[in-house]
Amino acid sequence: MNRQMRYIYKRLVKGYIRNFGMVDESEFRFYFSPGRINLIGEHIDYNGGHVFPAAIEIGTYGLITKRNDSKVRAISLNFEKFGVSEGDLNNIVKQENRFWLDYIMGVAHVMKENGFDVSTGFNLVLFGNIPNSSGLSSSASIEVLTAMIISDLNNLKLEDEKGRIEISKMTQYAENHFVGVNCGIMDQFAIAMGKKDHAIFLDTATLEYEYVPFDLKDYTIVIISTNKKRALIKSKYGERRQQCEDVVKTINELGIVKCETLGELNEEHLDLIRPHLDDIHFRRARHAITENLRTIKAKKALIEGNLLEVGKLLNESHLSLRDDYEVTGLELDTIFDVASTFDGCIGARMTGAGFGGCAIAIVHQDQVDEFATYVGEKYKEIVGYECSFYLSKAGDGAYRVL
Ligand code: GLA
Repeated sequence: MNRQMRYIYKRLVKGYIRNFGMVDESEFRFYFSPGRINLIGEHIDYNGGHVFPAAIEIGTYGLITKRNDSKVRAISLNFEKFGVSEGDLNNIVKQENRFWLDYIMGVAHVMKENGFDVSTGFNLVLFGNIPNSSGLSSSASIEVLTAMIISDLNNLKLEDEKGRIEISKMTQYAENHFVGVNCGIMDQFAIAMGKKDHAIFLDTATLEYEYVPFDLKDYTIVIISTNKKRALIKSKYGERRQQCEDVVKTINELGIVKCETLGELNEEHLDLIRPHLDDIHFRRARHAITENLRTIKAKKALIEGNLLEVGKLLNESHLSLRDDYEVTGLELDTIFDVASTFDGCIGARMTGAGFGGCAIAIVHQDQVDEFATYVGEKYKEIVGYECSFYLSKAGDGAYRVL
């Protein structure tokens, strides 16, 4: 355990005792599940395209003890005033207003439906250091954490590679059907399968993946949170997804191109489909198709150590998300615009679903403080409130710490 983890562990132990009473320390099990950034490949995981995410070193911590019944009693130190929430693994029901408990019970429910024994109850204290509503996947982080806890407690042995892939599918299913967000598989996959100092190049059509060393030489990734409250994200996300599906349906029905997803298409297809789509649908499709191609190029450039090319592709990705996919907004665009005028920054873009959340920038390691001051001041001037900065290397996927 490093210093930060030890500190969080102690906080969780205190939180446990405060809310559930004293227990012998030997009864504790301690887990960590990361958040993720996506280097490039945005809004294409539900289009059968390629994504290029990495797990990060901030995320969600969980301290548990095993119970002798099937109850889950859980509290989050991030929302401690809301008290302990309770569910029963033998009688899982979705309830309103329990917010994050649904992530936990949803995962348990899906694992059960997949034939796993999930019946051992537990007391859980959670703490997350992923900034709130940041688009760094705090929900997928809790979901994968839950699957790890359930696997460990019930001896399901899902900690190996095959098990982790299964966990990413089940947790995505839980998010889609229990929590109700129709997301792709990128977040859960990155969080379950993360590898220290590596990004994951994932083909979402086949789930074939490759670990690529996340080596930025003298540069580093800076994560910038817009601190914007993200409203309507669920409906706008669903709308984009639907528009992409509509395009596939239209071009198949008209017999222009036969395909199951936009991820199968390339730039030549764009000219073919253009006359048959209205402007909005064409631009949505153009984003999905070109973003997939950019992601493939970015992986090649990163392997070749061509960081300027990686940076250029990140910039192009942002512009496509801004102009064609329309998922950025003033806050993310301000970060992009300002970062682009900073000398030591070779590329920047929004990361995650957009509409707020976070951006990433590739910044020279000697100029990170200067970059933060520069972007921070300009952002406040234009947007009216502050953005925040985080540094993280690529880290491992979820695991039991103790
Ligand atoms: C969210 C979803 C992911 C992905 C991104 C956009 O993070 O959970 O599945 O679609 O948005 O790339």
